[in-house]
Amino acid sequence: MGSSCFSRGNKKLVRIIQDFLKENNLQDEVTLKGAHCMSQCDKGPVMKVNDEAVYNITGETLLNTLEEILGLSSG
Ligand code: FES
Repeated sequence: MGSSCFSRGNKKLVRIIQDFLKENNLQDEVTLKGAHCMSQCDKGPVMKVNDEAVYNITGETLLNTLEEILGLSSG
């Protein structure tokens, strides 16, 4: 939720994450929290999943990244 990441589309990315959690019935298992700037603005948007930092997130890469980290990949 830092201003640099926010200006690069975090609002849209948060919505994608919320929809992903809902579609996979993970709302009770996954806690989604906004974070302040992680001091990696040049690599933003940034998110952390289970303490694993992911950089340069886009709407295109976000779902694959979440599936991979959360072990939901089908292929
Ligand atoms: S605003 Fe996202 S890392 Fe700084």
